[in-house]
Amino acid sequence: MTPRAPLRFPAASRSDEAQVDDGFGRELLQGLTARPRSLSPKFFYDAAGSQLFDAICELPEYYPTRTELAILATHAGEIAQRIGPDAEIVEFGAGSLRKVRLLLDALETPRRFVPIDISGEHLEGAAKRLRAEYPQLPVHPVVADYTRPFDLPPQLPGSRRRVGFFPGSTLGNFNPQEALAFLQGAAHVLRGGGLLIGVDLVKDPAVLHAAYNDAQGVTARFNLNLLQRANRELGADFDAGGFFHAAFYNAPLQRVEMHLVSRRAQTVRLLGQQLPFAEGETIHTENSHKFTVEGLRALALRAGFGIGPVWIDPERLFSVHWLPAAQ
Ligand code: AVI
Repeated sequence: MTPRAPLRFPAASRSDEAQVDDGFGRELLQGLTARPRSLSPKFFYDAAGSQLFDAICELPEYYPTRTELAILATHAGEIAQRIGPDAEIVEFGAGSLRKVRLLLDALETPRRFVPIDISGEHLEGAAKRLRAEYPQLPVHPVVADYTRPFDLPPQLPGSRRRVGFFPGSTLGNFNPQEALAFLQGAAHVLRGGGLLIGVDLVKDPAVLHAAYNDAQGVTARFNLNLLQRANRELGADFDAGGFFHAAFYNAPLQRVEMHLVSRRAQTVRLLGQQLPFAEGETIHTENSHKFTVEGLRALALRAGFGIGPVWIDPERLFSVHWLPAAQ
């Protein structure tokens, strides 16, 4: 995966922009002309990809979402106590908003909710639904790629601390340097507050295999949507039927890898270039790193966070950590 710039969080907001240039064309061309071929998983989440991801979260094999929801529901009171009153919640990557509702319901007088997401359409829809449910809570969506420098609105007067919420084990989709850079940026912007982060745990590879190779083929469609997105947005001529989804656990690197595999020798046209694919050649589209509690804590310490409590489900599938950020 292409290394990205470390995070910076300047003060002014650009939440009025409907969409950001996420560099899809440039990074796709770069990724497909490199060897091995790869693309950042952040490009999965156009409107169609975001919908497919929501469908993945409902799959029987995909345990992370329901397990994290259960952990949050079970321990919401304790988590809210750690966070304290009058907090401003910044969610990195606003998903379906189901998780943050559990948090908001438990918190004492949350001051504002700032969801940050790369998909403007998805974010606006979710923010609208949340405003309807929490009419007292200011909701300030920010359309941005939070793996790059972006703008965060200044803290509201009356809010005592900024608390980051990063559920879903999205940290696992970064490479180790990106994960460290993200946490360093977060520790800086959240100083005096903290980060509530959910990460998937190392476990039986068979459970992981099933979660990323679901019987209904939703994960395969999510992966293949990248090629359809390139056709829609960049006028490429990928034959999505000419590629198949492959996902497997790479045990030494503690990660599930997803690839798109070319079924045959073929040439694809993209942004004026002819890209030849051999039969069996792959595009590496995602890493989903799994963590041990100790591994996540070591990374958090290196990034400048302190260590707080961790909440884990009885089957030890998933973990939610509270990481305090020094002043
Ligand atoms: C968003 N992210 C944490 C998911 C994961 O499990 O790595 C994305 C995903 N890829 C395939 N299924 C779900």
